[in-house]
Amino acid sequence: MTTFATPLLSQAVQRIRAGSLRAAQSASSPDLVSLAMGEPGFDTPPAIRLAALECGYAHYAHYAHYAHPHGDPELREALAAQLSAAGALEFKIDDVLLTHGGTGGLSAAILADLCAATGTIVLADEAYAELVYTDEPFTSALDVPHLAERTVYCQTFSKAYAMTGWRLVYLAGPTELLAAAARIHATIAGPLNAATQRAALTAVVTAAAAVQEMHDEYRIRRDLIVDRLDGIDGRHLAAPDGAFYAFPRYDHGLVAIDMVAHLRAHSVAVRLGSEFGPAGEHCLRLSFAGDRDAITTGIERLRGGLADLAHPQEARA
Ligand SMILES: Cc1ncc(COP(=O)(O)O)c(C=O)c1O
Repeated sequence: MTTFATPLLSQAVQRIRAGSLRAAQSASSPDLVSLAMGEPGFDTPPAIRLAALECGYAHYAHYAHYAHPHGDPELREALAAQLSAAGALEFKIDDVLLTHGGTGGLSAAILADLCAATGTIVLADEAYAELVYTDEPFTSALDVPHLAERTVYCQTFSKAYAMTGWRLVYLAGPTELLAAAARIHATIAGPLNAATQRAALTAVVTAAAAVQEMHDEYRIRRDLIVDRLDGIDGRHLAAPDGAFYAFPRYDHGLVAIDMVAHLRAHSVAVRLGSEFGPAGEHCLRLSFAGDRDAITTGIERLRGGLADLAHPQEARA
């Protein structure tokens, strides 16, 4: 393997290395419970997987060539119809652009000249819009008067449909902005896998019940993690209203990076609160996307780790 001396690395790589707080995350293993990953604890719903299988074979006949650079037209049409039905704005097929995963979508929409040419724009990443546990419905940026027309909406298939591995996201917004994002996408990334997009069409058209089922189970997992955390001294938690993360603050003086290492030694993996901004120091991000056993065992280990800090002798006895 070749290793490059630091001066050979571009400034951009060096900046990302220095600034990123995101550590590589381990998945659960026999001796580690991971509450670190934002990975849905469900398989992609069967109808979507079946559609992919069928398209996999169809690939040889119909989907073996470059897909449309802005995304499968039928899928874009279905997404435009879904967005138009959900809010006040009407979306047409040219107002929707499919890209490779959240990072691809977000980077196609931001690059600074675009903002300068059109005034301030709102980039609304609404990945968890389907995972809301309050009685009030979720308010999208597209529902806010005067914001909607300057909003680039970014939606991933990863979370609500349990499709993290499929790498599919779409942007929707004003035609002129979308055309600029499409140009960037076409230059940097190029067309998406054609068969994946046919399976995503099945997700949009048929998967509402499966999404609701997963949502209902996530709500149970939310209640479970809140309940288990409730009995732990020296932690403060507001029950999460959406997504699948709890974000408790702890009283102990240990900074989050050391706390995460300490908990890892107690066989539970969690994320630093400070990864998400300075206000997250002395907080932990705990995912409840995994199954109920992982939550129960993980929080038990967390309790043991915190008790070990508060009363080291007793915890080890
Ligand atoms: C808020 C938010 N947006 C976007 C994404 C990106 O999803 P993906 O890259 O899988 O499309 C994530 C993933 O964790 C997320 O938490």
